Amino acid sequence: ASADVVVLGAGPAGLVLGNLLLAAGIDCVVLERASSSRVRTRARAGFLAPNTVRILDGHGLADGLHQNGRPHGTCEFRTPEGRFRLDYGSLGRGGRHHVYPQQHLVTDLLRHYLARGGRIHFRTEALAVHDTDGTRPCLTARDADGRTVRWTARYVAGCDGRHGAARRSLTAATVHHHDHGVTWLGLLAQAPPSLDAVGYAIHDRGFAGHMARTPEVTRYYLQWQRGVAADAWSGGRIWDELDLRMHAPEYGPLSRGTLLERGLFDLACDVVEPLRHGSLFLAGDAASVPAPAAAKGANLAVLEAEILAEALVDALTRGDDRGLDAYSDRCLAHIWRAQEFTGWMTRLLHAPPEDAPDAGSPFQAALRRSRIASLRTSRIHQDWFAENYVGV
Ligand code: APR
Repeated sequence: ASADVVVLGAGPAGLVLGNLLLAAGIDCVVLERASSSRVRTRARAGFLAPNTVRILDGHGLADGLHQNGRPHGTCEFRTPEGRFRLDYGSLGRGGRHHVYPQQHLVTDLLRHYLARGGRIHFRTEALAVHDTDGTRPCLTARDADGRTVRWTARYVAGCDGRHGAARRSLTAATVHHHDHGVTWLGLLAQAPPSLDAVGYAIHDRGFAGHMARTPEVTRYYLQWQRGVAADAWSGGRIWDELDLRMHAPEYGPLSRGTLLERGLFDLACDVVEPLRHGSLFLAGDAASVPAPAAAKGANLAVLEAEILAEALVDALTRGDDRGLDAYSDRCLAHIWRAQEFTGWMTRLLHAPPEDAPDAGSPFQAALRRSRIASLRTSRIHQDWFAENYVGV
């Protein structure tokens, strides 16, 4: 089988790319390892940056987001020294997030893609990409019946995440990897939000976070000891710990509910360099995974998909390769900036990990308090925070 562009992966990166290519009349196909229902229900991120909304709006992909997403522009820091709010939506460049669960966005993108006549094969796992040096790359995949199928293309877009076939097929890439040494227990609670802001709580016992998702479901994070299973604690113990770290005695209890999902997230990140390997291009988590501390992953994925779509359209319709040549450098500039900010957030919210040379250091603890004090009091620091927090 063949297509001008074979897209691996039906996450935000792959589906935005697919939609933009179809809109420009480009022949493409998406191959996705998971089932259609899994793709539409997998809960992940949920904070969309202004640039993401602009891209989706510009291509008629934002209907669900405007109907059911909610604008959001405040975060609250809770520390042993007190709490403060940053209305980041009116700081910096004045950009706000839209809270819209990623699985709803993916569902919308899929609906639009299919309505435009897009081709997609679910339960089809790409195995390896070959011949990317030439103008006729090909790949092998295992289809829903377990048969090995072969696809040829002009270009292959690897949007299949950190563990996908695109990354595995690279022979000459550098993968920069950095482990922040921190693990989060991510929770989805059947409970309304406990505050009308993103909550970042700093506590001697570790970080805790609160992020709205929908009026009925809220995401919490608890800094967690690496190596301990996600189900090691009872729900009651988790809620007690969340209350403690979120400083509930001072600021009020959290709205409790059934814990629907638990997952462990190592705050580890990586960047692949370069993002172009002949006729294979990486986008989204396949290109770079930022630590989850600042909601950058999905927003970078959508931005890269837009840049790649424009470049592929220029190349395929006008023989103009300049966009493809510039793709890697353009995206990496955004990626490193997001990595830098995410690293800063990570160091703000957590003490150095237990195995770090400066673990337990009073000096480091004092620096963190000072960093927080600067963010609480300096308008320029707040503007910098706001610009980076919503920017990609
Ligand atoms: N063949 C085909 N599909 C694959 C393969 C493979 N070998 N490996 C993975 N996939 C699919 C996954 O099932 C998933 O649907 O690729 C898709 C990748 O989608 P995402 O993981 O959502 O990644 P991306 O589109 O890059 O978006 C990044 O997702 O990881 C979250 O929070 C992160 O918000 C960020 C966003």
